[in-house]
Amino acid sequence: MLGSDDYMNAFLEAKRYLDDLAAKSNASVPVQYPPEEKMGDLALPVGFKLAKALRKNPQDAASEFAEQINHPAIQRVEVVGGYVNIFLKRAEIARDVLQKATQSDYGAEEAKGERVVIDYSSINVAKPMHVGHLRSTILGGSLRRIYRFRGVEAVGINYLGDIGTQFGKLIVAYKKWVDEQALEREPIKELLRIYVKFHEEAEKSPELEDEAREAYRRLEEGEKEYVELWKKFRELTIKYAEKIYEMLGVEFDEISGESFYVEKARELAETLLTMGIAERDPETGAIIVDFGEWGKDVILKSDGTTLYLSRDLTALLDRVERYAPKKLIYVVGSEQSDHFRKLFWLARKLGVKEELIHVPFGLINLPEGKMSTRRGRVIFLEDVLNKAIELAGEEMKKRETYNEADARKIGVGAVNYAILKVEPEKNITFQWSRILSFEGDTGPYLQYSAVRARKILEKADGWNPKIPETVNDDEWKMIKLLARFPEVLSDVMAKDRPHILARYSYELARTFHGFYDRNPVLQSEEPVRSFRLSIVKGFYNVLSRSLNLLLIDVPERM
Ligand code: ARG
Repeated sequence: MLGSDDYMNAFLEAKRYLDDLAAKSNASVPVQYPPEEKMGDLALPVGFKLAKALRKNPQDAASEFAEQINHPAIQRVEVVGGYVNIFLKRAEIARDVLQKATQSDYGAEEAKGERVVIDYSSINVAKPMHVGHLRSTILGGSLRRIYRFRGVEAVGINYLGDIGTQFGKLIVAYKKWVDEQALEREPIKELLRIYVKFHEEAEKSPELEDEAREAYRRLEEGEKEYVELWKKFRELTIKYAEKIYEMLGVEFDEISGESFYVEKARELAETLLTMGIAERDPETGAIIVDFGEWGKDVILKSDGTTLYLSRDLTALLDRVERYAPKKLIYVVGSEQSDHFRKLFWLARKLGVKEELIHVPFGLINLPEGKMSTRRGRVIFLEDVLNKAIELAGEEMKKRETYNEADARKIGVGAVNYAILKVEPEKNITFQWSRILSFEGDTGPYLQYSAVRARKILEKADGWNPKIPETVNDDEWKMIKLLARFPEVLSDVMAKDRPHILARYSYELARTFHGFYDRNPVLQSEEPVRSFRLSIVKGFYNVLSRSLNLLLIDVPERM
């Protein structure tokens, strides 16, 4: 597992101690966080597992286990049924946790010399990004930030879909119909317009299809004029995408593309053939791989054309060689699960030992409906984001806090959060009013919580962390949640699932509101005032950091 121990705080240490104890006693059950305060701070359901071995009922088995518990941070232990419920020393834990959580780099780790490669966004040249690409972009962009914050060098790769017969069509369409000015202004819209026109015209004059095939052949042969056009399409696409990436706060370390791997993919197909991993189809002459129950796939056509799979395999080997990563992650829609199963299978056959992860995700349904590139029925992502910004602005005007910079943060934050909070496998249905609401499980609610905490801190002066003798339940809940932040991040990395962090952030914000509604902060007497202020400070640190890792900025005013 990635991640190391230097983030430990007294709370997580106590938990680690219990985990180890359970492991040693052959009752390897993970320590749980009980749902209610009266059930303790940590719980071990060991009794059920130990009952048989000890020939006792779960209650007695758990009691026997509990006798050996001895740790300076543990106040007392209670056995209920098969459960051992553990209560920690609140003031002591609070001192250590707050001391750490009030530092601005809380949760960060030093560089460990480990690397991961993350493939995300990976859009197709000359086509508008669709919402599937949006989901990949946001998930991958967030993962990249999380890994980096934890000292793992994450290399973000945008692997462009930059080859295919559609370029023959585009070249023909470009020569006949392009409006250069429109192309300057809105490149993707213009490329889409001529692409759609191509299909309309080709219905009337099928010879256009032949022209396109011919153009594609000349492109493949490297004819200068055609290659230049292809390059132009590629660059325009990158420029268009960069504007969206900037809005979303997503970064890449490398822009690569399928076109880089055509030559090598041919060689690799031959190698697979000699290794006996692939075979030649006696009828067609193509090189194919028999994946058994997953079927057979062509990896090199008889005319030397490479395929998505063979290029991806070549790119994978190249990433392993150039970056020596611990793991390679692909954030791509679940409709490609079959592709990645085959890709990873082939990589293993070639001796790749690194962890290979496909992070699949479901669909996003927009109220605007479905898209079809060929028909030109397209929802442009920049329009989606602009709509969110506009709606955020309207809400701010009602509150008399409107300013453009913050409206952008709120609009984009709402979209990013709406995507990141959902388990990747699940489909998402966007409802504008819901994702932009300032209440409930939304980006704006979390941003609002951070702004509120910052305001309290701005009003406070002259306080330093002090811990009173007693810590009440509301304060204690905050401390425990703050203590878990580093563990949450490790969990996200172990599973490559940022929604775990989104859920945590929401729980933290809700808990904070409960704490703040019932416990005066600025009006309290010392040492309670300072103690509560340090809780607010820890909360602000952790929440604003979590938001940053989820690609969400905290506004000035909202
Ligand atoms: N360009 C592909 C698409 O839009 C996604 C590529 C994903 N990455 C990869 N290495 N296969 O569907």
